[in-house]
Amino acid sequence: MNFHIETERLILREILPSDAKGMFELDSNPIVHKYLGNKPVKIKQQAVDVIQFIRKQYKERGIGRWATIEKSSGGFVGWSGLKLNLDKKEELNGRRNFYDIGYRFIPRFWGKGYATESSLAVLDYGFNDLNIKTIFGAAEIDNIASNKILQKIGLQFINEFRFEDGIANWYELKKEDYEQTMS
Ligand SMILES: CC(C)(COP(=O)(O)OP(=O)(O)OC[C@H]1O[C@@H](n2cnc3c(N)ncnc32)[C@H](O)[C@@H]1OP(=O)(O)O)[C@@H](O)C(=O)NCCC(=O)NCCS
Repeated sequence: MNFHIETERLILREILPSDAKGMFELDSNPIVHKYLGNKPVKIKQQAVDVIQFIRKQYKERGIGRWATIEKSSGGFVGWSGLKLNLDKKEELNGRRNFYDIGYRFIPRFWGKGYATESSLAVLDYGFNDLNIKTIFGAAEIDNIASNKILQKIGLQFINEFRFEDGIANWYELKKEDYEQTMS
């Protein structure tokens, strides 16, 4: 598997063991984890393990989150992309076996429209290359940026559900609705 997608300002590529420094910077930041259950990682090995976990998904599930790189600087922004949720512990809103769209960036890269830009490319890949029928998304109700992105890229609000200690919004976009908005 050798993903490489380019948008105007970003490269989305498979995440590599050499991204461990960037992944640790991302996942050790409490601000990043504010709406993710408040469990930032403490040691670099945890970032190494996450990378191995994602790379295992590429092999076993044919997809996983991608490293997101800023073209102008070559900097590791974070990750974005699709995840195929299969296991019971990945169950969300009572669902199993679904693709969700997600993103997690280092704060110095926030506010530039990068999550929106990468997510539009991810939807295109998911619907047109992988032929996924429905892509789901979830965001804690207070996570304004994430809710805004999901709505902006065309996902429809479905319901609220309990997530960790809070409440999250559940969204979906069907391939036929995506194609209609693109035509
Ligand atoms: C969510 C995240 C990836 C957004 O990245 P980003 O590149 O800054 O997002 P974008 O710039 O593409 O879009 C964010 C939108 O939310 C808006 N926004 C952000 N914070 C906001 C706030 N507090 N109030 C109102 N609008 C806000 C921005 O203005 C922008 O909307 P616009 O394009 O209409 O101006 C980033 O904040 C992040 O990594 N957060 C931590 C991880 C996380 O929460 N991931 C999502 C889990 S569901």
